[in-house]
Amino acid sequence: SWSQSERSAIVELWDKINIDEIGPQALARVLIVYPWTQRYFGQFGNLNSAAAILGNPKVTAHGKVVLNALDNAVKNLDNIKETYSKLSQLHCEILSVDPDNFRLFADCLTIVIANKFGAEFTPEIQATWQKFLAVVVAAMSSRYF
Ligand code: HEM
Repeated sequence: SWSQSERSAIVELWDKINIDEIGPQALARVLIVYPWTQRYFGQFGNLNSAAAILGNPKVTAHGKVVLNALDNAVKNLDNIKETYSKLSQLHCEILSVDPDNFRLFADCLTIVIANKFGAEFTPEIQATWQKFLAVVVAAMSSRYF
């Protein structure tokens, strides 16, 4: 459960995030730093270099899709597990995504946010944000068995 200050820290940070900017950067960073994650995106075309990944329109579009899905977690802070139940099942049964990758994505997202907001992303806000993402990662992993 969330304290009032945690709730406002998450919502206030989220309100400042431009999904169309941060989503593509976070997904691109995952694909660059952990190149084995490219195996899930064989249909995305050229992922042969950092420049190709950053300039790939399918990566950009999918980064926005993933971050838009995070909006559902922010809007359902008390019900994140149920909110992602179907999505977890999809990633497990249909997409066969190894759930370790959710944590890698969460870490890359935090790094992109830290890079964007600098000192404004205080250690206290960061701790709350990472707690939020840990709940998201657990929810995305909840239908794996
Ligand atoms: C598709 C969310 C992490 C691989 C999707 C979709 C959503 C989503 C909303 C579209 C589902 C649909 O079309 O019905 C998320 C969230 C994540 C996450 C919220 C983490 C917080 C990952 C990671 C990987 C991954 C880490 C792989 C490394 C995929 C793939 C697709 C997909 C391969 C299908 C893409 C396509 O064919 O267009 N995800 N995802 N996801 N996701 Fe994730």
